[in-house]
Amino acid sequence: MLVPRPSVKPHLEPAIATGPKTYEQWRGTTLGHITDILEQQCIVDLMGPVQGRCALDLGCGDGVLTATLAERGARAIGVDADRTMLDVAIARRGRGDRPQYVEGRIETLPFPDSRFDVVVVVTVLCLVTDRTAAIREAARVLRPGGRLVIGELGRWSVWAARRRVRAWLGSTLWRSARFTTATELSRLVERAGLTVEAVRGAVYYPPIFMLARLLAPLDRWLGSRTTAGAAFIAVAAVKEHTNDDR
Ligand SMILES: C[S@@+](CC[C@H](N)C(=O)[O-])C[C@H]1O[C@@H](n2cnc3c(N)ncnc32)[C@H](O)[C@@H]1O
Repeated sequence: MLVPRPSVKPHLEPAIATGPKTYEQWRGTTLGHITDILEQQCIVDLMGPVQGRCALDLGCGDGVLTATLAERGARAIGVDADRTMLDVAIARRGRGDRPQYVEGRIETLPFPDSRFDVVVVVTVLCLVTDRTAAIREAARVLRPGGRLVIGELGRWSVWAARRRVRAWLGSTLWRSARFTTATELSRLVERAGLTVEAVRGAVYYPPIFMLARLLAPLDRWLGSRTTAGAAFIAVAAVKEHTNDDR
């Protein structure tokens, strides 16, 4: 599951909103590689089968998850506010017409109501000022019966503590990032009219590659039991059918 593994490289703290190069460098470290796989696995588990489905990846960044959705047979569209990230996502796509990428903001999506079967939002809400508007918009473009999966930075983990110390030491990046809990995410999706179906955690080890290697095999088991200590928290919710759309 965790192969192929890149060579051990010096630890680089994952950085959000710092451009595509930083993401690539992070995934190139042992810690980043293991962590990225576990987070994606958590999201993919919660999404369920996407073959033939219309899937939207909001805040898609450099398109790794969007590409996974397309590889799994979804008609995938990635949206991001940052043109440089989208350029990398498009370059990753290579030839062919899947997946598609659109420049836009999560709070005001350029899609009609009920367009998508699946919507995913991974480590984007930590950067968004109005999370309520963002999730309301995600719910709007979801069809009745469709599924929203959110992945976010967990508040009660060693990773979050370390990042908060960095913020305190002057990192503007981490000062502006928001950490969250499963309860907050659940309330957020419920306020948007969705029903929470599952909550998962991932990445329980501290940000040390040797511990990541050692403890990664336990991650999925822990993730289905508790979110306490998880650096990554994910929630899956469905948009219920109403009498009008039956
Ligand atoms: C931490 S990255 C996550 C990228 C990708 N979802 C992943 O997990 O690899 C956050 C992404 O969200 C995008 N983003 C931030 N605020 C946004 C907004 N309001 N609307 C759309 N995209 C946004 C950023 O440009 C960045 O590419």
